[in-house]
Amino acid sequence: MFKFDSQLEYKKSLQDWHYDPQIESQDGQYVGRFVGDFDNFKVATEQVEEGHAVDIYPEDYDKPLDEFNLSWGKELYVAAGYTEHNTRRFQITSTNDHKFPEFCHRIAEISGLSNCSLAMIRQRPGNVVPWHFDTYKMIRDSQNISDLTTVRRYLMFLEDWHWGHMVQIGNNVVTNWKRGDTYTWPYGMYHLSCNAGIADKWTLQVTGITTPDSLHLLEEKEFII
Ligand SMILES: [Fe+2]
Repeated sequence: MFKFDSQLEYKKSLQDWHYDPQIESQDGQYVGRFVGDFDNFKVATEQVEEGHAVDIYPEDYDKPLDEFNLSWGKELYVAAGYTEHNTRRFQITSTNDHKFPEFCHRIAEISGLSNCSLAMIRQRPGNVVPWHFDTYKMIRDSQNISDLTTVRRYLMFLEDWHWGHMVQIGNNVVTNWKRGDTYTWPYGMYHLSCNAGIADKWTLQVTGITTPDSLHLLEEKEFII
């Protein structure tokens, strides 16, 4: 029998973070602000079906119980009481046929990350993406990456902050952002996103491999697109 009760317990055993909500730690990093025309991005998700975050697939149980087993992580959500009704979001990625507005590609170019993929997420009020970490499956498979600490995800807010919109990265809560503000965090860091407000929350993610020109390594904090 496997020795860990949950993926979270397994992650704690790796000692890759302190896993103490009471410790003051710097877990998220502000990358800077993209400035420019973010026009018409809402049409990008018009034809997309709303999905949810508790989609556990039976075949995942045949996979090893390790940090890449998404369903093992999602069991934590279900045990905590999350359902397909409160974890919904619209998502478009580089792998489906939906078109990203041109400015999204510009942001990927400017990011200084290589082999970028994009994702745009629309989260309606009342929904949560619960406490999880990213496994970068797409780039892991396509680029055959063994050291995931070389992968970075930039999370950019597509609109100014509105009431009830919140992202948490490790022990840091992020709110009150301006359109274009962008954050990142190291591989394996737990995070979450919620919309307890009255307006949709829109974000863009750029994921790629760190290069010396990657924006989170630079002093500059404003990026004109
Ligand atoms: Fe995530």
